[in-house]
Amino acid sequence: MPDVTLTTLQELKLKGEKIAMLTAYDATFAQAACQAGVDVLLVGDSLGMVLQGHDSTLPVTMADMAYHTAAVKRGNRGALIISDLPFMAYANLEQTFANCAALMQAGAHMVKLEGAAWLAEPIRQLAERGVPVCAHLGLTPQAVNILGGYKVQGRQEAQARQLRADAMALEQAGAAMLLLECVPSELAAEITQSVKIPVIGIGAGSATDGQVLVLHDMLGLSLTGRTPKFVKNFMEGQTSIQAALAAYVNAVKNVSFPATEHGFSA
Ligand code: KIV
Ligand code: NA
Repeated sequence: MPDVTLTTLQELKLKGEKIAMLTAYDATFAQAACQAGVDVLLVGDSLGMVLQGHDSTLPVTMADMAYHTAAVKRGNRGALIISDLPFMAYANLEQTFANCAALMQAGAHMVKLEGAAWLAEPIRQLAERGVPVCAHLGLTPQAVNILGGYKVQGRQEAQARQLRADAMALEQAGAAMLLLECVPSELAAEITQSVKIPVIGIGAGSATDGQVLVLHDMLGLSLTGRTPKFVKNFMEGQTSIQAALAAYVNAVKNVSFPATEHGFSA
């Protein structure tokens, strides 16, 4: 078992202490993040963009995710490891079970699935089989071709209502955690208060139970030259990667990150 478990995260939520989560794709950065105090390491399919240079996460395979999960596991020093199921790797239940097994056996303690209320059935069945699930709602990058770009979600009232309902349905189904990406700060705050499970935000304001950023983004590295509004470069004012990682954890814990300017209005 890692030092940080689902129970730890639920206690942090109850105490109102923020959860610091960061993506990691290899052993060295996993260890550095742990030494900086990161609670949760996310082996994100963002690796398709930041490691592989693709323009979306769609080309990422199960083999890629298992490889990077195994590397992160070797560098992990007590954090909870969450791994993404990549695009179309959870299109039916049988495939979902096999692919979750592969990631859990590679070292994940939880898996993350992008979607909405339709995830209720897989979440229920995975929980019954011992696999905790983080449901990723709001901007779901694997659906970029449906969404028509990487846009803020839940700005219209009907969309916001749907998102609130989805969050509650997935908690009811047995989701262990929720992740909200690019939703108005006020809506993210409402959802966080309406569920008992921890809610992690990225581009979702400061009221969620924790924050996540992509490692490369917070180190000020960008392939495209475009940085999303919700990103802060934590290398600024620091002289080492270790110091930048520690500054990120500190800023999340003392709620100085994200600032208002990193969030979205309705
Ligand atoms: O793949 C990833 O890094 C993610 C985070 C941006 C939440 O899903
Ligand atoms: Na992802």
